[in-house]
Amino acid sequence: MTVFDLSGRVSVVTGGGRGIGLEISRSLAAAGARVMITGRQAKTLDAAKADIEGDVFGFPADVSSEEDVRQLVEHTEATVGPVEILVNNAGVNPYYKRTEHTTLDEWRHIIDVNLNGVFLCTREFGSKMLERQKGSIVNVTSVAAHTGLSRTGAYCAAKAGVEGLAKSLAQDWASKNVRVNNVAPGYVKTDLTAGLSANDALRTKIETRTPMGRLGDSDEISGAVVYLASDAAKYVTGATIAVDGGWIAT
Ligand SMILES: NC(=O)c1ccc[n+]([C@@H]2O[C@H](COP(=O)([O-])OP(=O)(O)OC[C@H]3O[C@@H](n4cnc5c(N)ncnc54)[C@H](OP(=O)(O)O)[C@@H]3O)[C@@H](O)[C@H]2O)c1
Repeated sequence: MTVFDLSGRVSVVTGGGRGIGLEISRSLAAAGARVMITGRQAKTLDAAKADIEGDVFGFPADVSSEEDVRQLVEHTEATVGPVEILVNNAGVNPYYKRTEHTTLDEWRHIIDVNLNGVFLCTREFGSKMLERQKGSIVNVTSVAAHTGLSRTGAYCAAKAGVEGLAKSLAQDWASKNVRVNNVAPGYVKTDLTAGLSANDALRTKIETRTPMGRLGDSDEISGAVVYLASDAAKYVTGATIAVDGGWIAT
């Protein structure tokens, strides 16, 4: 099982302070990685650092800001070490509305964080990985990239865009030993889905649509991320692992 060992490997988890990202950060640290957690709110990062055992660091950054991402790269490489693993997890979906009622500002906000943020972090950290010819990038996408979800057009477009980017990079970066893969969760109980979970009719609809009959827990996503980050997946690039209770299979 040493192929799963991440001892000493410097990892960055965007949106690592809460929800799915917090559990990914915890699992990477448990596998031995040195983990830089980022997100917009410093107090969330402080709480996460106190909560996780291991070598965990924090630096506030908005992934949709080119300047913030550049500072994040510079700070991480200077204080934690050369980054080998990037987990593009930060994401938002505050708008549940039909596309004909979506404003351009709402559309841009979702695309800015969920797609442009992945592009910026991947370009900046990926460039360092290419120089060193070593790296693994894991994007947290969604079943929304595969089956489409109602009233979340921008979110679906952004997540499908990330998966398209990963396939392109798999071709461009494989020869430089930089792998790019996706983990696509189904519905998971976090702040992002709190509104859906609190709505009995909606929650029941989701549970009924899911072969496993329930929403996932945030700690059920990280095993696939650790696998893709590790040498256990050294011949895997451009792939997506669905962790969705069977959602995509139906
Ligand atoms: N929950 C689900 O059912 C589900 C299903 C499929 C896919 N996903 C995906 O899984 C990922 C994590 O979702 P989650 O459910 O854990 O959401 P969450 O609990 O709402 O957490 C979102 C995280 O993203 C960070 N974030 C948001 N905007 C950011 C920005 N502009 N720059 C940097 N960080 C930002 C947040 O930190 P700050 O607020 O401190 O910035 C927070 O740590 C997302 O990509 C989401 O699309 C979730």
